[in-house]
Amino acid sequence: MAVSAVLGAQWGDEGKGKIVDVLARDADIVARFSGGNNAGHTVITEKGEFKFHLLPSGVVWPHSLNVIGNGVVVDPDVLLTEIAGLKQRDIGIEKRLVVSERSHLVMPYHVVLDELSEKAKGREAIGTTGRGIGPAYADKASRIGIRATELLDIEALFPRLEVVVNHHNAIITKVYGGEALDLLEIFEKCKLWSDKLSEYIGPVEHIMFDSVNSGKKIIIEGAQGALLDLDHGTYPFVTSSHPTIGGAMTGLGLLPGQIDEVLGVFKAYSTRVGGGPFVTELHDNTGDEIRNRAQEFGTTTGRPRRVGWFDSVVGRYSARINGYTDMILTRLDVLDIFDSIKVCSSYELDDTVVWDFPGNASTLERCIPIYEELPGWDTPTAGVTKIDDLPKNARRYVDRISELVGAPVKIISTGPHRDETIHVS
Ligand code: IMP
Repeated sequence: MAVSAVLGAQWGDEGKGKIVDVLARDADIVARFSGGNNAGHTVITEKGEFKFHLLPSGVVWPHSLNVIGNGVVVDPDVLLTEIAGLKQRDIGIEKRLVVSERSHLVMPYHVVLDELSEKAKGREAIGTTGRGIGPAYADKASRIGIRATELLDIEALFPRLEVVVNHHNAIITKVYGGEALDLLEIFEKCKLWSDKLSEYIGPVEHIMFDSVNSGKKIIIEGAQGALLDLDHGTYPFVTSSHPTIGGAMTGLGLLPGQIDEVLGVFKAYSTRVGGGPFVTELHDNTGDEIRNRAQEFGTTTGRPRRVGWFDSVVGRYSARINGYTDMILTRLDVLDIFDSIKVCSSYELDDTVVWDFPGNASTLERCIPIYEELPGWDTPTAGVTKIDDLPKNARRYVDRISELVGAPVKIISTGPHRDETIHVS
């Protein structure tokens, strides 16, 4: 397939980094379209483990062009650190990275505002990653954001920056009682970013258009997951961008007809980080076992992830808003230790059975999962590479999930390494 979108189908952390890396072996371009360095994508190659927050996961393949779309918010310091980290490991990125001129920058005041506004919310805090992502998207919508293209004309940037910094300093000091940031210090940073990043800034929508037209193989790399989508997720416990297929269109300037396949990446169970409803959450030993076995701690913040059984109400909803042509199932091997495994097929809500995901966070808090219990398997799936080698009950589990979500399974990941992968079809 020429253009494949790889999207998080739950609450993020589904293992998209590994999947993108596996698919990028045969791809010309890997392009990110949403989020920022709130994401954390892990890739393991023969050179060891890489953790990317901003760079597309294709950067480890020397042949790939890596694109950061206009829908991404870019913290230039983080980007420079990631580029330097790659250079240290002998991976050059020159002429292999394009950052959209229209992407917005995460500025130092965004990080401060993220922290202060979370603190002020108290018990109502969202549990953000604290990376300034929400405030950066808020500035974009308020038309006071700073875009990458402005680094190309640094003198013209100054008067705009002055107005924006004064505005935010007033909020930081008068609303939150915080300390004002120094305009000139921020401007010096902008000059440094201009020196170091200008070579990467370019017209992404034109590059994407030409690449699609010339038949290039493109992987669209999602960040976060469908249930964290600003519109479709469990609002207000969501991120501030659109990790869904619509976000891929606007975040890269693509056209709907240009996408050949939409791959929904699901973990074989569920996790979420931060606050918000989570109907199948486990608060018992089973949850702890999954968390410890799978090392479910945030790549970006190190926070323990909340853990639960697979939720096919979430899965069906996610498939509906993204139109998955196929599912990709990751971390199946984590479930190898259980005698029986639960799958949530529907919810009980006020004595009725609910099949469709409710739109209100407080309604979701009242939902009780209705489970099917499937038998576990007695031989491990870890490292299995052929579908015929999966234990019968593991196959049954995969088939049942696929049936409940309503999409075929194309790839199953049975471990963190590239070759621990089953290509089903
Ligand atoms: P923000 O994106 O930092 O504003 O955080 C908003 C919500 O999205 C919080 O619950 C975060 O924990 C969650 N979130 C953001 N990025 C990720 C991610 O990459 N994986 C999982 N959760 C995320």
